[in-house]
Amino acid sequence: MLSDQISGCDATVRASEIGAFMAQLVPDRPLGADEGFRWGDPEAEVTGVMVAFMPTVEVIEACAAEGCELLIAHELLQMPYPWHGGALEEHLTWPVNRRRIGLLARHGITLFRAHGTLDTFCVLDRFAQVLGLGEVVAGEGYTRVWQIEPTTVRDLARQVKDRVGMNAIRVSGDLDQTVSRVGLPWGGVGLSLNAGTINSVIEQGADVLIAGESDEYAMRMVRDCRVPLIETGHAVSEEPGLEYFAGYLAEQFPDLRVVFHRSAPAWEVL
Ligand SMILES: [Fe+2]
Ligand SMILES: [Fe+2]
Repeated sequence: MLSDQISGCDATVRASEIGAFMAQLVPDRPLGADEGFRWGDPEAEVTGVMVAFMPTVEVIEACAAEGCELLIAHELLQMPYPWHGGALEEHLTWPVNRRRIGLLARHGITLFRAHGTLDTFCVLDRFAQVLGLGEVVAGEGYTRVWQIEPTTVRDLARQVKDRVGMNAIRVSGDLDQTVSRVGLPWGGVGLSLNAGTINSVIEQGADVLIAGESDEYAMRMVRDCRVPLIETGHAVSEEPGLEYFAGYLAEQFPDLRVVFHRSAPAWEVL
């Protein structure tokens, strides 16, 4: 929906050099099994890189329009999730996969997925900054808990809505409950498929959760824990970190053109 050019020179770098840079971005944390080159030629010459949330049709078309040969995306290219079983070749006929992969091929775009590396490097921290959270008082890594001035869920939800710039958000739980310890199941961590991490955050003492995206299973889970959940959005909670990373990449490769692309919203409220 919106592409911001972070730096402006045109010079050639091989995609593999950027891949090697990504592999050492977080010290002592090699790329995960779900990260790395996912399509195209890792030895392609690159003058422009786009950083975006998910390699959707909209994003791939924007990448091509910007003339970027490399797309660094945070989320998965294909559906279904690989852990649901079955190889990609069994699902290449799915329209979503045909469209995305067909466009990557047509435009000669190389795709690199940077997932947990970017979550660890900056995505969760930047979400906490956007929300204006200060001190971490419990937990570590993905299950940290931030202290805030005691407030009602209703007031906190209004602040969250303003800070992330959404027209409407979902809130699950008692709006009049006073809360002061915030857990952040950002991105897709607030989904029931990540119930283990949600549970860990609650066991760290969070009395309210500000999520990326959530679902009814997870909402009914946290209601039974008397821990209200304020939902923002998956991309909304991760894109501040991705934009920050694009700026960082531009600093590290000053001759490269780096473009951050903010995804169009995935839904509307009527
Ligand atoms: Fe993430
Ligand atoms: Fe995510």
